[in-house]
Amino acid sequence: MKRIYMDHSATTEVDPLVLDSMLPYFTEKFGNASSLHSFGQEAIEALSAARQQVADSIGAKANEIIFTSGGTESDNLAIRGVLAKKKNDTSRSQHIITSMIEHPAVLSTCSFLESIGYEVTYVPVDSEGVLDLDKLERSVRDDTSIISIMHANNEIGTIQPVKDIARIARDKDVYFHTDAVQSFGKIPVDVNEMGVDMLSISSHKIHGPKGAGVLYVREGTELEPFIFGGGHEQGLRPGTENIPGIVGLGKAMSLAKERLGHDPEHMLRLRDSLIDRIFDSLDDVRLNGHPTQRLPNNVNLSFRYVEGESLLMLLDVKGIAISTASACSSISKKESHVLSSIGLNADYIHGTIRISLGKDNTIEETDHVVQSLQESVGKLREMSAISKS
Ligand SMILES: Cc1ncc(COP(=O)(O)O)c(C=O)c1O
Repeated sequence: MKRIYMDHSATTEVDPLVLDSMLPYFTEKFGNASSLHSFGQEAIEALSAARQQVADSIGAKANEIIFTSGGTESDNLAIRGVLAKKKNDTSRSQHIITSMIEHPAVLSTCSFLESIGYEVTYVPVDSEGVLDLDKLERSVRDDTSIISIMHANNEIGTIQPVKDIARIARDKDVYFHTDAVQSFGKIPVDVNEMGVDMLSISSHKIHGPKGAGVLYVREGTELEPFIFGGGHEQGLRPGTENIPGIVGLGKAMSLAKERLGHDPEHMLRLRDSLIDRIFDSLDDVRLNGHPTQRLPNNVNLSFRYVEGESLLMLLDVKGIAISTASACSSISKKESHVLSSIGLNADYIHGTIRISLGKDNTIEETDHVVQSLQESVGKLREMSAISKS
């Protein structure tokens, strides 16, 4: 049976060109970038080439790139780093602003910070997942240190008005961090156009290896590390650099940037055709997230009278990989905070699936997905005691 992967917001396969770029750094070029000999030099060269690739992909300078282990660590470093630096500034050390629909990498960091005395404001979103800018503006206080709002949501794909958020942050003299883990490679990400002070990216979402990520830190932004060791990454992220991972990340980001004119358009065509055909063939279904201000690869659907996990399992048997909400909420088994924040009823929340397309998905694959959805939703509704019929 041919398997069809449509869970690219959870993770992606490593691009063969990315893998080729990494391989020498596992074997003959295995040096430590802190060593003075020629092996070390090779590692240093690889590190600085990757740093330049990353910087060029987001319109940054090389010295503004901090390599991390992924999106989670980048989000932690941005928020905790700013607060740690400001801990002695009594006017600006208490308050953080974020949204109700952030990834757990941000929300759990915030709840940890609340547990040790910081205050957090969670700004709501509307029924399409767009942040309430008025509420955001009104939430800023004299002691607000940082605003952290994601660029695009990992469950429902809604894209936030980051330029407006950046303007509010700048006017109020507060740092602005955005999590661009889901948006990079799907929509333009340029740190100057967006006006952000910090921005997180994860390699494994863009056909790079797992365990590598970036925190962009605008020159002049003051941060402190939250782990300690040698002076790597300007002292902000100590520890021997993951050279193969970083090389792969640099290559994956350059490729994604190069393909920005092509891949997202392809995904958008597949997305819209999938949505149209599903709505044509099934009743009692709703699309979650903004109808147009959404990621080109995101289809988040709620089927009434259906249990999302049962649907996922039936599709899996047919070789189709999708998810119920995000990969993270599948682990925690909690109801999606994103879906409840957009005001979705429980019966729709439980019947929700996320299809996240990738650059190599084909129209034939979407045909198979539409047909399988029709069959599986039909079957589950027949079995369901609460079905409308
Ligand atoms: C929006 C967002 N932020 C952060 C992360 C965490 O990234 P990583 O898996 O690299 O830690 C994810 C992963 O799902 C994500 O979707």
